[in-house]
This record gives sequence, C-alpha cells and structure tokens, in this order.
Amino acid sequence: MSLREFLVKAKETGHLVTVSREVDPYLEMARVIDALDGRVALFESVKGSDYRVVSGICSQREYLALDLGVPQERLLLALAEVYANPVPPKIVEAAPCQEVIEREVDLNRIPILTHMEADGGPYVTAGVAVVKDPELGRNACYHRLMQLDERRFTTRIVEGRGTHTAMGKVEGDLEVAICLGVSLPVLLAAAMTPPQGVDELGIANALRPTSLVGCVTKDLEVPAEAEIVLEGRITQQTVSEGPFLDLTETWDIVRQQPVIEIDCITRRRDPIYHALLPGKLEHKTLMGMPREPGIYAAVNETCECCNVYITPGGMSWLHAVVQIRKRGADDGRRAIEAAFRGHGSLKHVVVVDQDVNPFDPYDVEWAIATRFQADRDLMVFEDQPSSSLDPSALHVPGQKARTAKMGLDATIPWRTRDGRLRSEGERAAFERVGYEAVDLEEYVLD
Ligand SMILES: Cc1cc2nc3c(=O)[nH]c(=O)nc-3n(C[C@H](O)[C@H](O)[C@H](O)COP(=O)(O)O)c2cc1C
Repeated sequence: MSLREFLVKAKETGHLVTVSREVDPYLEMARVIDALDGRVALFESVKGSDYRVVSGICSQREYLALDLGVPQERLLLALAEVYANPVPPKIVEAAPCQEVIEREVDLNRIPILTHMEADGGPYVTAGVAVVKDPELGRNACYHRLMQLDERRFTTRIVEGRGTHTAMGKVEGDLEVAICLGVSLPVLLAAAMTPPQGVDELGIANALRPTSLVGCVTKDLEVPAEAEIVLEGRITQQTVSEGPFLDLTETWDIVRQQPVIEIDCITRRRDPIYHALLPGKLEHKTLMGMPREPGIYAAVNETCECCNVYITPGGMSWLHAVVQIRKRGADDGRRAIEAAFRGHGSLKHVVVVDQDVNPFDPYDVEWAIATRFQADRDLMVFEDQPSSSLDPSALHVPGQKARTAKMGLDATIPWRTRDGRLRSEGERAAFERVGYEAVDLEEYVLD
C-alpha cells in the first residue's frame, strides 16, 4: 500500500485528521503535530509551499497493523518472518516518483519544518537514504538532514552502520537518494538493522509489494511510489550538525558531520511531504518496534521467546520487556544476555513469564514485585558500548559512548535460595490468583 493508499484507508477508518487552515512549517506546524500526537494528520495548506504535509502515519502500532493487514498482536511475528526472508524487489521503467524532474534544485520549495527555535536549521526527519555499498549492495536507512541552503544539507550518519561503512569504501563522494513520502513497509524496513548485506528494500517488498525504479542521475534504485526523491552525493566536507531535539526529548550533541549536495529532485505532480516530529510517538514507534524482531530472534536462539516489547517509557529504544516460556531454571538469565545481543542499544531489560502481559507496565511491575530478588536475579554489565542517544552515558568525542546495562529476571524462580529445584506445585504458588467472575447485570447497582 503506497502512502496515498494508506491515507485513504486512514480516512475510511476515522484515523485521519485534515487541517485545512494554512499552517507555517516554521515552528507552528511542529506545535500542531505535537498537539495531534498519535493521530494521522494531513495539512492541506502550507505557508510558502505547494506541497501538502502528512504526519503521524506510524505513530500507533494500530496504523501499521492496518497497513500490513495483520492483527496488532501478530505484528512482531510478521516482522520477524520478513526479517529472515527478504524478497528482491521488481524494477519498473516508469514511476510516480518521477512524474516531475527538477534539475534546477531549490530545496526551499519543500516545506521542511523547523521544530524548535534553537534547532540548527530546518530538518528533514522522515527521509530514507538509499546508498550502494561497493561490496554489500543496497542499504536503506534514515538520516536526518539539516538544511544549509537551497541545495545542501548536513546529515547525521551514525558510525558503523550501513551508510557509514559504505562511505569508507569509496574514494570521494558517495551517491545517495533520499526518499520522502514512502509507504509504511519502507518506513518500517529502513528502521531495521538486518545482518550486513541484507537489502532493507527487500524486507519492505516482503511486507508488501514494493517496486523500485532507477534514479535519473544516480546509479541507485528507489521505491517507485515515493512522493519525492532527492538525488545527490554525500561529500567529504564536514560542518556542524545540530542542535537537534532527539528521540529522548533532550538535545543531541552538535557534531561535525558530512555535507550532502542535491543534484536533482524527482517527484509526483502534487507531492505530499512526510514530517516526523522528533521525540514524539511516530519517532518512538519507528525506532523501537523494528528492533523487536532482532531481540526475538536472539532470545529464541537460547530459549523460547513469546513476545518482545520495546517500551515507550524507555524512549522506545533503551528499555524492553521480553516474555518467555520458561523451560529451564536459567532461561531468564540467558534471555537477558540474548536480548542485549539482539539490540545493541538496549540498556535495561525485564524478562517475564507467559502469564505476565509485557505490554502492561502494571503487570510487569507486579512480576518484579513478586518474583524478583535483586541479589539473585539482577544482572549488571559494567562499561558496555552504549546508544549515543542516552544523555547519562559516557560520551567522548570520536569514540563509542559507554554505559552500564541491567537485566532483571522477573520470571518465577525455579530454584530455592539453597539451590534446590522447586517442584511444579511450588512454582505454581507464584501465580496470580483471581476471583470468579460474576455477571453484574444480575445485581442491582445504585
Ligand atoms: C525516525 C528515525 C530516524 C533516524 N535517524 C537517524 C539518523 O539521523 N542517522 C542515523 O545514522 N540513523 C538514524 N536512524 C537509525 C537508522 O535508520 C537505523 O539504525 C538503520 O536501521 C541502520 O541500519 P543499517 O545498519 O542497515 O544502515 C533513525 C531511525 C529512525 C526510525
């Protein structure tokens, strides 16, 4: 389903909010999107631009389930399935994203939002950057873009990931195509980190058919149904990138980052620009959810994983709850170690049994309160590589940030303090006991 087809679906199901009054992309639009957090919003009249703007399309798991045609509780399994089985996309000759070709580049025609007065500039936040690694092939990944002038951006390129390693393998500039207004499957796939050499667009295609088209000026292929494609080069020049309000709702560090020069813009006749509001629900859902299959796969290598939830309170990035079907006394501890392997940026993880709902913070806390003993069930890992997003980590310029990590095994303890294995009956004593249900209709209530 293209972005447009999704918007029709969102309208039919009552999820679409249409804003017809003119809105300014400088500060005002960010504030309106914030007030509508969690809703799909379409801005029909944008100050200074002919483009329409959409936001919030991935702000709820419900919207992803709607687009992919799977029930919400099966989303993780659907993602885990395609993560392991990408399908090479079909290449087409003509595409909606090339209805108009602009060789005279003027980025000012695009309604790029300035979110906060203190931002380093207007920021593109939902751009999927496609590059070709000379050895590993195509890579698709998000890179926020801070506008410098009418044809240049600076961009945040996290070290060690696909784009960064490809840059290290070419002399001079690296060709890039930044795709804006792409389908939900492309947005989801670009947020995943599959093993090196696996094509994210193949993952998108396995989720929903996603044809590609060759770029006009670059040797790259992009989703044919995209609204706008910026064809350009990542240069060797670096400038200050930021300030930028990030996922954690705190300011990211200002760093020296590469400049991207745009050589050509291709687009639909009446393009829709996708604005993703940093730090809010759409950012959080797209960061966390696509990491859950990686944790699920890693935990399944060591014990039986039933579900994974990267929680919004942990900025949808640093905290996860892992639900397992425990078959051995040490499964909880093994699941903790595996979860950290499955998502390198994970900082804290809680492991729960099958009778605890990982999506319910109250239930998870109940498991910690009734099953967990800190001197026995807490695992602490000192001085580990950290997410660059954690302000409390140790940050040294040019080096990977460092952090301590913690795992809580809040599963039923199968061993007693003296190491004896508890019988099934003894373990059952940890289960929650409920009252028999009654039908309130049968009672008179004042
Ligand atoms: C909304 C969103 C914004 C992101 N912004 C950036 C960014 O600015 N720079 C970056 O390097 N990664 C960013 N990421 C993370 C990458 O897209 C993600 O880690 C990607 O999967 C890396 O995969 P790769 O190793 O295959 O390149 C962002 C992710 C999301 C979901």
